[in-house]
Amino acid sequence: MFSERIERLMGSLIREILAAAQRPEVISFAGGLPAASCLPKLDFTGMPQSLAQYGTTEGEPELRELIAAQARKMGLDCTAQQVLVLSGSQQAIDLASKLFIDPGTPLVTEGPTYLAALQSFNLFGASITAVAQENGQLSPEKLDQALRNAKPRLTYLIPSFQNPSGACYSAENRRALAEVIDSHGLPVFEDDPYRALSYDGEAPAPLVSHLKNTPWIYAGSFSKTLAPGLREGYLIASPELYPHLVKLKQSTDLHSNRPGQWFIAQQLASPDFPAHLQSLRDTYRVGRDAMQTALEKHFSDLADWQVPKGGLFFWLTLKRPQDTRELLKVALAECNVAFMPGEPFYPDPEDGIGHLRLNFSHAAPERIDEGIARLAQLVRQAAI
Ligand SMILES: Cc1ncc(COP(=O)(O)O)c(C=O)c1O
Repeated sequence: MFSERIERLMGSLIREILAAAQRPEVISFAGGLPAASCLPKLDFTGMPQSLAQYGTTEGEPELRELIAAQARKMGLDCTAQQVLVLSGSQQAIDLASKLFIDPGTPLVTEGPTYLAALQSFNLFGASITAVAQENGQLSPEKLDQALRNAKPRLTYLIPSFQNPSGACYSAENRRALAEVIDSHGLPVFEDDPYRALSYDGEAPAPLVSHLKNTPWIYAGSFSKTLAPGLREGYLIASPELYPHLVKLKQSTDLHSNRPGQWFIAQQLASPDFPAHLQSLRDTYRVGRDAMQTALEKHFSDLADWQVPKGGLFFWLTLKRPQDTRELLKVALAECNVAFMPGEPFYPDPEDGIGHLRLNFSHAAPERIDEGIARLAQLVRQAAI
């Protein structure tokens, strides 16, 4: 009755957990939600009536110019003609999947990597090789080996404040990785939704900015800095890929919603926008620091982790590995605490036994200690 790919369609554990974590008594470290207090007021006063009409697939010209200018400031040399506005940056993953993946197509990702990217890649039938991160960096030698062995049609990387690991690759690491990718000439996708959420200094220039002769896609989002409910994101692509991505978007949803694009453009152009970003960073740094304090107090004998310099997550490696999917069921039922199990972030979940992803932007800082204490007690009991 359905297409053959539907057999590979996995439900998102994240969505199911988020549904369960809606109960007010639950302290949730599960999602990647912005704090409610950080969301902008959705004011559409002054929006031109003409935006009720169909628009162009590429996106509103003013917004494309603003995105290109922002990218050039980060160090990515590009023009507005390379910008495609999307219905959330998740759409970049969908379009790239459609562009590159047939059943059995080899792909390379980090291990761990973004769960919903794996969902999309798997739906289209990719055969995924994961390269493990080491001390928050990605080894150029290991990437080289994976590219040599797998010959992937696409390499998908999240170099800045990765979801889920929080890792941020240094400028030298990015340069070395770009050199490896260039030497193979195989297309790369850099997913970068967390760049603006930096708490100890800015992330280095995008990895793709160092490429000399490889096709690339760079994806960015307004979900973490403005409002995820608007579903506005974008991609910037090298000229040989761009026209294909535009046609794929055309056949997917014609174009992204125009009132949302107008709102985002107003925000980006506002003289208050830098202060808004600063206030996000200041708010989330408090959450990050509160979680670090709570983890040191309750988890130091139970897990290892690195303090994330940006993004929204701590990534814990349990000293005594246990299946955290099972742990989650008990945490929700008995402790009213939600977190994200580590296993689904690996192409082969069995490679990810014993990790937890903990979000620090959503729970109020004063509830973080309580939630972490309950979780630690549970891990301690389960480890006995
Ligand atoms: C790595 C990564 N890529 C893409 C997305 C999708 O974001 P958007 O809301 O822009 O679709 C997320 C959302 O959490 C993410 O973590």
